[in-house]
Amino acid sequence: MAKTVTLKDDESGKSWKFPVLGGTTGPDVVDIRKFYAETDMFTYDPGYTSTGSCESKITFIDGDKGVLLHRGYPIEDLAEKCNFEEVAFLMLTGELPDAKAKKQFQHDITYHTMLHEQLHSFYSGFRRDAHPMAVMCGVVGALSAFYHDSLDINNPDHRKISSYRLIAKMPTIAAWAYKYSLGQPFIYPRNDLGYAENFLYMMFATPCEEYKVNPILAKAMDRILILHADHEQNASTSTVRLAGSSGANPFACIAAGIASLWGPAHGGANEAVLNMLKEIGDKKRIPEFVKRAKDKNDNFRLMGFGHRVYKNYDPRARIMAKTCSEVLSELKIKNNALLDIAVELERIALEDDYFIEKKLYPNVDFYSGIIFQAMGIPVTMFTALFALARTTGWIAQWREMIEDPQQKIGRPRQLYTGQTKRKFVPLAKR
Ligand code: ACO
Repeated sequence: MAKTVTLKDDESGKSWKFPVLGGTTGPDVVDIRKFYAETDMFTYDPGYTSTGSCESKITFIDGDKGVLLHRGYPIEDLAEKCNFEEVAFLMLTGELPDAKAKKQFQHDITYHTMLHEQLHSFYSGFRRDAHPMAVMCGVVGALSAFYHDSLDINNPDHRKISSYRLIAKMPTIAAWAYKYSLGQPFIYPRNDLGYAENFLYMMFATPCEEYKVNPILAKAMDRILILHADHEQNASTSTVRLAGSSGANPFACIAAGIASLWGPAHGGANEAVLNMLKEIGDKKRIPEFVKRAKDKNDNFRLMGFGHRVYKNYDPRARIMAKTCSEVLSELKIKNNALLDIAVELERIALEDDYFIEKKLYPNVDFYSGIIFQAMGIPVTMFTALFALARTTGWIAQWREMIEDPQQKIGRPRQLYTGQTKRKFVPLAKR
């Protein structure tokens, strides 16, 4: 028998039955699509803590067990055994590519790595000290003004080519935002390099001398991109879906996702972690900051700690911590003061009753900033890097939404607590 739940209004005694839908794994959902029509009430869930907004086959998270699967594959396997292009292919198509498909996909992506030459002048409209995320929002949004030939969202070929363009151009856009801030010439992409390697090349090469990307760092960057590739219906992904639900073009939708990712409660956390570790400055001061994080009257939080979904160790943080040690050892950084503070802070917090009770564990951003800094990536570029990796997930989710026959424009309702209808007061009488 199909599962249902019954809602009863205790005052009137009326009751309504709602179907319960089951996925392949994870919690069931109550189908409340007819809730308003039948009950004349809305549901209320600010922050969407209990709301499933869509059906998806891309990413599954079990926050209690610390599990993250993309298209069914554990993140640990993907980070260990795949490169970023394979994971991007998996996100977009649902399957890992075979050798031939991988080669073709790599070819197709690299074919689109260059930016329209006129975008050079677009960059020069920004101040040199502009935050790279501000530049990314602007430039990615502007892509829709350059690629009119792929904007028909109802055409599958257009959707495919826009996806490839976004994934391919994002490293160029991010690296150029950095180059612009330095006043250095833009470095054009090199299509003989891998995705992560090419990004590091465009970040650090100059036209004056040959630049060889360290393969260990390229591998680490590739893994970091995989770890950030998608994360189910988080704030920025939901933003992309909501923007796209109106039929907006994918470049505009991804620009909206970048804006949402920018905040310190989301993608901006990696930047905030590093700033926090610098502010702590000395292991001796950790207890003082932990005390502040626990103080209800202080709005300070331990950045890189806690997660809406993970109530156990974030599996990405574990891989990130390992990658962090590999990078520091490759770069022969023996004593990294910030890493020492981070490790000690993690140890103290994980033994503290407040963090234990609230199930607050390090998230993916806790160690990423230390790796980026060791690689020579400036703090302001951290979130831009996250955006570059997450574009794959955003675009896969956007495509899934457009191709979903149940898709409708997103339009939440509200609990109105403002003034009821009142008489207008003319200016002279106010
Ligand atoms: N430090 C101290 N206390 C915390 C922290 C933290 N980092 N995170 C949550 N808490 C406390 C809250 O004060 C709250 O306490 P209360 O129940 O006594 O009021 C409780 O834990 C629950 O916190 P909420 O804010 O209600 O949880 P929510 O799911 O809304 O927030 C979030 C999750 C935003 C990630 C939060 O943990 C946070 O701000 N963390 C720091 C920022 C961060 O690292 N963000 C990166 C997220 S991962 C990503 O985007 C890649």
